[in-house]
Amino acid sequence: MKTTIASYLPELTALRRDLHQHPELGFEETRTAGIVAQMLGKYGIEVHTGWAKTGVVGVIKRGDSDRTIALRADMDALSLQEYSNLEYGSVNDGVMHACGHDGHMAMLLGAARYLAERGRFDGTVVFLFQPAEEGGGGGRLMVAEGVIDKFGIQAAYGLHIRSDLEAGHFATRPGTIMVATDNFEITVHGEGTHAALPHTGVDPIVTASQLVIALQSVVSRELKALDSAVLSITQFSSGSAYNVIPDEAVLRGGTRYRSPETGAALLEAMERVTAGVCSAYNARYTFQHMPGYPATINSPAETEAAVSAAGKALGADKVQGNCSLIMASEDFSYFLEKVPGCFAFLGNGTRTRAHRADFDFNDDILPLGIGYWVTLVEQELGERAE
Ligand code: NI
Repeated sequence: MKTTIASYLPELTALRRDLHQHPELGFEETRTAGIVAQMLGKYGIEVHTGWAKTGVVGVIKRGDSDRTIALRADMDALSLQEYSNLEYGSVNDGVMHACGHDGHMAMLLGAARYLAERGRFDGTVVFLFQPAEEGGGGGRLMVAEGVIDKFGIQAAYGLHIRSDLEAGHFATRPGTIMVATDNFEITVHGEGTHAALPHTGVDPIVTASQLVIALQSVVSRELKALDSAVLSITQFSSGSAYNVIPDEAVLRGGTRYRSPETGAALLEAMERVTAGVCSAYNARYTFQHMPGYPATINSPAETEAAVSAAGKALGADKVQGNCSLIMASEDFSYFLEKVPGCFAFLGNGTRTRAHRADFDFNDDILPLGIGYWVTLVEQELGERAE
């Protein structure tokens, strides 16, 4: 397997760098999708385009088993100006592959080629190339459009590089691996008046200030200490003059939490505290909750399968099967809401950090990611007797 994969690397490295040079934002990945579809077609794989606008699905069916697993890569880039000395640096101003999605696509395409040409398995492999992971919810849309039922997907696996993990090391965990993130906006409606006559109005700034402090006790006093959660108020805006008490104040921020139950408890407490504080100060309020990605929750059996495949492909000493969870979110969570599966990390090496203007995917790990995917498929879909 290693020699065959090594023979793919010149083409795949060039492809990866071409994708890096031409990054596209969520739901605008038309060039990218065209290349992915063309490569899958070239490998003789059945291709379905137009999923979640710019998503691409490839399918390989072997033998007569009805077992079906999905492997997923994300396709979009970030709104970020690249500053690097790479000869294949981004040619699109303000758009950059700073999260390794260029590498995710190249690794999954390499696995697709290997599995199409010489994969030993009995069942169906579905390759999900999804758009708009970085906030657009491309995974949510693919799931909403019925990708799970349409292809009969029974388990789903995702792989993401990590820049705080040594190159070629692998990390995952059963249960929540990445948290849910929601945003909120609270508008405190007071009654504006002259700054010299506060008793003739209702001061939204004083009310909102109390609210900022009161909300801090939600996580620390209402949630179990082991239920990791964060509530941060990141914007406080109000007023426009030195001598006018304004009509309203707006607070914005976000929450992060690891289970749906914690999310519901947070929301209930935030609304209750907001209502109570505003009532105490004679103010009214509007509370807007903007749900983001849910928590990414790995199922135990599929996590074991991923750890086992990674051990065979990368060496057991490189694999952490119970890494710590990450307080960021991922829209692979929508696939895992429907079917069991495992989201895992592959170390990119610590030379450059993701989401920074000088980030680059480490091409040395291309064969490692491909090896993991192929091993996982051949392990989970059995080997055909030859
Ligand atoms: Ni990413």
